[in-house]
Amino acid sequence: MADAAVTFGDRTPPQVAPLNPPERSLFGPGPTPVHPRVMRAMAAPVLGHLDPDFQQIMAEVSDLLRYVFGTTNPVTFPVPATGTGGMEAALVNAIAPGDPVVIGVNGYFGNRMVQMAEKFGGQVTRVDAPWGEVIPPERFLAAARASGARVAAVVHAETSTGALQPLAEIAHGLRDLPEAPLFVVDCVTSLGAHPVEVDALGIDIAYSGSQKALSAPSGLSPITFGPRAIERIAGRARPVGSWYLDEALLASYWGDARPRAYHHTASAPLVYALHEALRIVAEEGLPARAERHARNHEAFRRGVEGLGTELHAREGHRLWTLNTVRVPAGADMAATQRRLLDEYGIEIGAGMGELAGKVWRVGLMGYGSQRRNVALLLAAFGELLHEDGLLADAGAGVAAANRAYAQGAKEPALVAD
Ligand SMILES: Cc1ncc(COP(=O)(O)O)c(C=O)c1O
Repeated sequence: MADAAVTFGDRTPPQVAPLNPPERSLFGPGPTPVHPRVMRAMAAPVLGHLDPDFQQIMAEVSDLLRYVFGTTNPVTFPVPATGTGGMEAALVNAIAPGDPVVIGVNGYFGNRMVQMAEKFGGQVTRVDAPWGEVIPPERFLAAARASGARVAAVVHAETSTGALQPLAEIAHGLRDLPEAPLFVVDCVTSLGAHPVEVDALGIDIAYSGSQKALSAPSGLSPITFGPRAIERIAGRARPVGSWYLDEALLASYWGDARPRAYHHTASAPLVYALHEALRIVAEEGLPARAERHARNHEAFRRGVEGLGTELHAREGHRLWTLNTVRVPAGADMAATQRRLLDEYGIEIGAGMGELAGKVWRVGLMGYGSQRRNVALLLAAFGELLHEDGLLADAGAGVAAANRAYAQGAKEPALVAD
């Protein structure tokens, strides 16, 4: 008997207008403004994930990532996921069920690492510090020693607080412990702006995100696995509890082994975007890029003081990429954030966790770290605070930043559009 006629019932297609997203100035914790060259790269023809020409592009992406991470690690590539996927890839491979793990928690993302490590069966010891402070290395090392940690993890750039974690003392101290724990570092908001020196410090696994200081869209998470990490993973008694994020399987496609084996269907446009974003980093050079971020951060900080408030993160440990600005008494965090979006097209981030309602999170990262953006942000904040009756001179922030630039916080040239 013939099949009944195929039917889609009485479904009618929804009437949807053409895509027309508004243009925003992305000065939140990420995503950040995407360099025009990166936008153009995404329009290149899509190649198959095993096409020889695509494989050449993959090899170049890995080379460029080795440059930004400061490593010669062969297993260096973008995890096909956002930064959280990089975090999972790092922890699910490093932690075997029952392993003692020590994690620094001075913000939201340290806490996320704890949640993940527990899911993967780690026996987690937390080393907490107030949000906006850094983890004292001696406390972290003492906890690692006392717990016999096999894995030790910190967040280099805590995007929820604006604090930059010093790594050297922890890295060196971990090497002296009997268990020599694997050192895992979240570099999501530092890579491509602050120095990240994987080999010089002896970091075993570091991961990042494409949408922060690298200024590509989100969707890829650069990661690097050092030799000690590879050896530990290979020697695990229990297999890695993830197929998609298993380092050895990912490396069979993204590593140096040839021929490359199919693992997943890589997104060509995202890989092109990262390729171009990393080429821009290499053209500018890491030292110049760090200096640009430092100068614009410094001018913004001075501007914030001109607005009558201050940064939340402790001086000397402040990120150049992400500023937590204390909400002045009398101002409404959410209302100001909303007005910046509605009236100026500026996206900033809200305080989260312990800092909810207390800070605005303002990102000046990658392509976004420019003098004109510092001026725009301070002008908009100044106007809104002035209208709220909280600031006498609406231009005080811009004026303070201009003085900072005049005194040497001058922005070096950006890589040309
Ligand atoms: C420090 C840090 N780690 C991890 C993540 C997670 O990245 P994603 O949101 O891309 O998954 C973020 C995101 O902001 C982050 O700032």
